[in-house]
Amino acid sequence: MEDENIVEEATAEAEKATSSRALYEAKMKFLGRTGKVTALLKGMRDIAAERRPAFGKRVNELREKLEALFASFEEKVKAREMREKLAGERIDVTMPGRRSARGALHPVTRVSGELIDIFAGMGFEVFEGPEIESDYYNFTALNTPADHPARDMQDTFYLTDEFLLRTQTSAGQIRYLEKKKPPVKMLSPGRVFRSDDDATHSPMFHQMEGLVIDEGITLCDLKGMLDEFARTMFSATSKTRLRPSYFPFTEPSVEVDVSCAACGGKGCPLCKGTGWIEVLGAGMVNRRVLENCGVDPDRFSGFAFGMGIERIAMLKYGIGHIRSFTENDVRFLAEFKD
Ligand code: PHE
Repeated sequence: MEDENIVEEATAEAEKATSSRALYEAKMKFLGRTGKVTALLKGMRDIAAERRPAFGKRVNELREKLEALFASFEEKVKAREMREKLAGERIDVTMPGRRSARGALHPVTRVSGELIDIFAGMGFEVFEGPEIESDYYNFTALNTPADHPARDMQDTFYLTDEFLLRTQTSAGQIRYLEKKKPPVKMLSPGRVFRSDDDATHSPMFHQMEGLVIDEGITLCDLKGMLDEFARTMFSATSKTRLRPSYFPFTEPSVEVDVSCAACGGKGCPLCKGTGWIEVLGAGMVNRRVLENCGVDPDRFSGFAFGMGIERIAMLKYGIGHIRSFTENDVRFLAEFKD
């Protein structure tokens, strides 16, 4: 019978189809708009009216049969295609991963962070002042009037008669004391600028300023905190030593040395045989500075210190030239990975 032939033919075509696309094309040969079954339906017109219902029923049954047939093949082909796709995309989870290059913190950022950790642990609050500063905050309020010889100690980049690039983070002492009244413990990191350039001096470098004001603060408190700083920053056996010095904004003023961590204080080329290395300037805050900020110097006293962050990093990591910090040579920077 003709219908059986069509079913056989469709089965053969479906078996040949190895992809869902080929299967679809096979299906269209029978059930598509120009397919064989569709042609039969179109032929109904030419069939005598009384035979039409029976013919229509027959063709419909045939169509349903073929639809079921192709549906079952479709299921099989799709399942196979999915298996092949999964097999092709299988990943080997035991393969070594691709390493991504990891950066490192710049030594200045790193030392600055360590200093903040050390002093924050002692209750200091971080304050940042502006890099463009007025003559008043950088000098005058720090007991350094215009004709003061100490202005020659630092070669200043003036922007106008009134404004300059700050030469020291000490300017932050005044700004902070204008806002907060004692007791205060302030730590102020930042860039400073001086017309200076050699192996250990650069026209831009970083300082960390410290300021403590309260009733009854003495030089002993300064020494105690600096000892703690030296032990944490350099080595557990590091010690500090104070030498008399001069700054207009502190009285008395001191230069602070740390025992040489390279030789343990015995004397070596790094400390030039002395066993000590100068790391910062400090002193008891001058009464004039307190007065300039509206703080009663008969009731309150305090100390301040200022250290060069590059200098601390050079000592800690044995860096020979200050220019290394600004050259951005990745080989230098990569040495500071954890
Ligand atoms: N500002 C001083 C300098 O840059 C350092 C210093 C800070 C000294 C605070 C005493 C007190 O050299």
